[in-house]
Amino acid sequence: MSRVAVLKGGRSLERQVSLRSGARVQDALERLGHQVVAIDAGPDLIQRLRDASPEVAFVAMHGRDGEDGTIQELLEVLGLPYTGSGVAACIRCWDKVLTKHLLRDVGIPTPDFHAFSETAFRELGAAQALPAIGRQLDFPLVVKPAAQGSALGIKFAPTAADVPAAIVSAFSYDRKVLLERYVPGRDLAVSIVEEDGEARALPVVEAVAEGRDFYDFEARYEIGRTRFVCPAELAEGVAERTQELAVEAYRALGCAGFARIDLMLREDGQLFVLEANSVPGLTETSLLPQAADAAGIPFDALVERILAIALSRQPA
Ligand SMILES: Nc1ncnc2c1ncn2[C@@H]1O[C@H](COP(=O)(O)OP(=O)(O)O)[C@@H](O)[C@H]1O
Ligand SMILES: [Mg+2]
Repeated sequence: MSRVAVLKGGRSLERQVSLRSGARVQDALERLGHQVVAIDAGPDLIQRLRDASPEVAFVAMHGRDGEDGTIQELLEVLGLPYTGSGVAACIRCWDKVLTKHLLRDVGIPTPDFHAFSETAFRELGAAQALPAIGRQLDFPLVVKPAAQGSALGIKFAPTAADVPAAIVSAFSYDRKVLLERYVPGRDLAVSIVEEDGEARALPVVEAVAEGRDFYDFEARYEIGRTRFVCPAELAEGVAERTQELAVEAYRALGCAGFARIDLMLREDGQLFVLEANSVPGLTETSLLPQAADAAGIPFDALVERILAIALSRQPA
């Protein structure tokens, strides 16, 4: 039995999901007999952690602060062990551009891309490079903010004329924008949880769009017009290949404890890694718990395992 601080909420755009993840983790920890203090992360975070003096922190915060390494950095300062990836891996996963460079450097396929900061457009006339980017990456072009999750700020630009507005929209989420080659195919996710120090891939989940709003991924996620199939129905050997690639990406990014890797399976069978999520959702409808369930790991056992990994590590 441990004294556990569950960190949830925060001020990110994914606050609501995080509150649900946190509440569910808290319930599980209590059922498991742990002593739980739930903290909605705000300006009094440090004081509340000092008052509660937990042995370990369970980070259930998605998006900014929880996934970008900020909370992890504070926990390092306090010398408190915590769940999931360390500061550096969080920074690598939170920035999709950095993620993609790291993956490409080690030969893990990720869609072709170019990325620019706001200042490149404002001060260096990067807009004049857009026609060349369009020719290289083709249309539709995927435009996304370098950071964020849950499809926030992602737009599909069917033609060159749609690119500027998509870029403006992405810049409302981050100072860096990613222009990426569109991959026609299936939307897959592989959750990874470590077992005896080894990254283990859970069954592949496929996100299937229900509507015909092909280019509007934001709406698709918000309105829930997406059905999740787990295990995904894939041709012989494809699930294994997808899981192996996800584990490779997990290792390349230096993730720890657990994470979720999002991929595309192109129509010709080629796989591409899109991104890694360092604190994937843990709600009733989230992909990681669903995948764990399909692997015969109930939610409470999943939470216990993630906590045990954190406790077995000493903070740096
Ligand atoms: N290059 C791409 N080609 C096709 N679909 C994409 C591409 N990039 C993103 N998508 C779609 O948008 C979704 C969200 O993109 P992702 O990169 O995972 O960002 P996030 O989940 O952080 O918002 C993906 O699951 C996929 O459905
Ligand atoms: Mg994703």
